[in-house]
Amino acid sequence: MNLSDREIREYLKGKDDAKLFAEADRIRRDIFGKDVFLRGILEFSNYCKQNCLYCGLRRDNHEILRYRLSNSEIMKCAEEIVNSGISTIVFQTGEDPYYSDNEIANIISAIKTKYNIAVTLSLGERKRETYKLWRDAGADRYLIRMESFNLKNYSNARPGTIWQNRRKCLEYLDELGYEIGSGIMVGLPGDTLEDIVTAIKELTSMHLHMIGAGPFIAHPQTPFSNKKNGSFDMTLRVYAIMRILNPLANIPSTSAMESAHLRGRMKGLQVGANVIMPSFTPKRIRELYNIYPGKNVQDDIDKDDLQAALDMIVKAGYKVSFARGDSPLKSSKFKVQS
Ligand code: 5AD
Ligand code: SF4
Repeated sequence: MNLSDREIREYLKGKDDAKLFAEADRIRRDIFGKDVFLRGILEFSNYCKQNCLYCGLRRDNHEILRYRLSNSEIMKCAEEIVNSGISTIVFQTGEDPYYSDNEIANIISAIKTKYNIAVTLSLGERKRETYKLWRDAGADRYLIRMESFNLKNYSNARPGTIWQNRRKCLEYLDELGYEIGSGIMVGLPGDTLEDIVTAIKELTSMHLHMIGAGPFIAHPQTPFSNKKNGSFDMTLRVYAIMRILNPLANIPSTSAMESAHLRGRMKGLQVGANVIMPSFTPKRIRELYNIYPGKNVQDDIDKDDLQAALDMIVKAGYKVSFARGDSPLKSSKFKVQS
């Protein structure tokens, strides 16, 4: 289904949420039925060499305790994910040069040799050779959000980084045969409604296998501490519009949704999202992966993240799927615009 710029704009302004959300859920049920795919996420380091103005892991944040997991700890967590029945593992870190490219390749190939599981990476901007090395080692998918499609705002919020380079990363990943995922932060300070319209259109034109979005949440230990949070309702609308325009994409209901709103992840599922990513980062360090306030802070301490996610999915009216959940979109037609 297509939406004109005007329709996208009006929906984003909240013209008819009931219609928008119902249409998104209808399309989602058409493609995926009631299934919600699970991805076990392991955040194995919270070091980052970048200094993004919005993120708690930025290198100049000296108030957080930093951690890194050893190879054997990573393997142990991977085993836990496999034992839980989940068939995708997601590795995410800040941009941490401590682990060499080869070390990460070795971890990927050890996991792929030992287990029948999809491996998704979310390790930031790297060289093409590095992406190739990891792909050859067996990695299946890669997530790298563009964050914003307002180039001025992007370079302000991510000092020392170049928007075009990030976009190039997606092109490389696509060429190398990864399933690729990207997305934005909704309400990044400075972004306007028009910037969100542009983001929706641009992301759609990339024919992504995965689309991720969450509201911006001000982190007290960052230069953006006093900025206004992104709107939760606006983020729901972004989910729904993304689903309508990208029926085959896997769209996670992200943990930022939960931080922004009570039962926020559940609402995300009800407006087009079809993926949940419970954290398998060891409990003793999980709260240190504090990209934004509320991230990885367990509200129900009696339940682990997986059990909480399973209960929530059923409560939302859907069905837990332990399948790999590859994207039904077989090949991406993504090309960088010249
Ligand atoms: N609020 C919401 N999301 C954030 N991210 C980083 N900082 C914040 C924040 N303050 C998101 C970015 C990044 C993902 C891992 O977390 O979109 O890609
Ligand atoms: Fe590092 Fe990513 Fe946070 Fe930027 S958003 S500081 S690259 S972890």
